[in-house]
Amino acid sequence: SEGREKIKRAPVISVMGHVDHGKTSLLDYIRRTKVASGESGGITQHIGAYHVETDHGMVSFLDTPGHAAFTAMRARGAQCTDIVILVVAADDGVMPQTKEAVDHARSAGVPIVVAINKMDKEEADPDRIKNELAGMDVIPEDWGGDTQFVPVSAHTGQGIDDLLEAVLLQAEILELEASPDAPAKGVVVESSLERGRGSVATVLVQNGTLRQGDMVVAGSFFGKVRAMTDEAGKQVKEAGPSIPVEILGLNGTPDAGDEFFAVADEKKAKELAEFRQTR
Ligand code: GTP
Ligand code: NA
Ligand code: MG
Repeated sequence: SEGREKIKRAPVISVMGHVDHGKTSLLDYIRRTKVASGESGGITQHIGAYHVETDHGMVSFLDTPGHAAFTAMRARGAQCTDIVILVVAADDGVMPQTKEAVDHARSAGVPIVVAINKMDKEEADPDRIKNELAGMDVIPEDWGGDTQFVPVSAHTGQGIDDLLEAVLLQAEILELEASPDAPAKGVVVESSLERGRGSVATVLVQNGTLRQGDMVVAGSFFGKVRAMTDEAGKQVKEAGPSIPVEILGLNGTPDAGDEFFAVADEKKAKELAEFRQTR
């Protein structure tokens, strides 16, 4: 708010697209770890949140599931996002969840960068993807439109550097800023009850800085942030704008998409949480 210094913040990118088109594999390649192969049946069932330092700058990623059942998650993903990477498998083409992701991005007013994935496959046909998306008014730049299409392979790494460059170029245009000095506010990505840990919530800080010991309200719940960990499970003491963190200490499990914010004290937190419960 007024008088607070604003600094450039990292873009928050939602990776969306039809089931098995390679969203998690693409993120794996970028993070150089192995998340997709560690998932049950290789199916993403939740929104993963990652913060990555790339050669082109910092980026935060939200990995969303492609399965039809997860429409609401994709809608929420699009809402807390600056840019959508739309992953389309070059050997499969535009599918129902591809179309749905375009709709979510549009209704949230979020620009799209298309990643034409699986280019290493013999059946890959990038022109078909361009045609199909152009038919939905997602027009490639080289056809006179304003959407960047980047051919990539999550297996060989082909084009992934170009994809990151395209995304960070798009982010520059958006001139994303935040005030690290402000009280923390952001959005709940997901939450659950874990044995021995209690309520565990992944939150994305959108403005301000969240610190261990802060009193926060999240949806209709509240609590003092007892501990925070990054996506690798490493303890952290604070998280600034665009950084996703896991927090312990809430007295319940807020819904994905709920807003969270730091407040001065427990009395205020309780009041606000109770007010939200009665709405
Ligand atoms: P959901 O989260 O279940 O919607 O799937 P996803 O989009 O995250 O796809 P995932 O990364 O799980 O990949 C699905 C399958 O496609 C896996 O068998 C991957 O190994 C394979 N795959 C992903 N990217 C590529 C690629 O660039 N080339 C080839 N050949 N296979 C790929
Ligand atoms: Na999958
Ligand atoms: Mg996945």
